[in-house]
Amino acid sequence: MNSEVEIESEQAAPANAAEVVLACRELRKHYRQGNRDLEVLCGVELAVRKGEKLSIVGASGSGKSTLLNLLGGLDTPSSGSVHVAGKNLAELDANQRGWLRNSSLGFVYQFHHLLNEFSALENVAMPLLIGKRPVAEARAEATEMLEAVGLGERLSHKPSQLSGGERQRVAIARALVTRPACVLMDEPTGNLDRATGREIHKLMDRLNRDLGISFVIVTHDPDLAAALDRTLHLIDGKLESDWHQGDHV
Ligand SMILES: Nc1ncnc2c1ncn2[C@@H]1O[C@H](COP(=O)(O)OP(=O)(O)OP(=O)(O)O)[C@@H](O)[C@H]1O
Ligand SMILES: [Mg+2]
Repeated sequence: MNSEVEIESEQAAPANAAEVVLACRELRKHYRQGNRDLEVLCGVELAVRKGEKLSIVGASGSGKSTLLNLLGGLDTPSSGSVHVAGKNLAELDANQRGWLRNSSLGFVYQFHHLLNEFSALENVAMPLLIGKRPVAEARAEATEMLEAVGLGERLSHKPSQLSGGERQRVAIARALVTRPACVLMDEPTGNLDRATGREIHKLMDRLNRDLGISFVIVTHDPDLAAALDRTLHLIDGKLESDWHQGDHV
């Protein structure tokens, strides 16, 4: 088990639980295919602390996206629990889960999922508007975040008018704009050239340093994985952790 911190859903949470922004316990996911059961995750344990940056690596089909979707509350586990900001997702209704997701998590999907009828600016402002921020403020912050990912000149472009890498950067800006406690990213730099990828790494580092945002990143990019605090290997439905040299334990 990777977590040193015990997560409980009860009120009497341990004193250091506040430091854990995202956690799962005994997480299992299987899919029924005809009369066969496909066991994708079989007992994943994870605790992500405030300000921690970690990568999840594993073969194609090993369950990385499945795990990220469960951690982000986008899918429900077959069994086990997910805690976001100390709250057990299973104990919340859909509305409460939506609010918690909006306020605490950012998500970059493997296939960016932008809203095609909206501009880049509107796509990035959307989570702030859903969070009831005033429109002018939401637009200003979305503009700032799009500038930070190098898209200050593309604010009014619709997704169909953007390149693949530009769409990916809009999705990254959308995940970061609320400055959530934890950002989940599924292959965020897969479509980007090295220089643009490096700029995105720098932006993530800045947000991590300045705001203590945690990052959980599924990646095949060795440069990115090496720059993070630890690497988790998803093998046979379980996570195994590598601590990088010089890191805290
Ligand atoms: N809705 C579903 N029904 C049945 N099987 C599914 C479903 N979703 C995913 N799977 C299977 O679960 C396994 C894990 O899929 P997942 O998308 O999590 O893999 P991944 O590690 O993200 O792979 P990649 O690196 O290719 O993105 C795959 O074998 C996939 O076929
Ligand atoms: Mg995937």
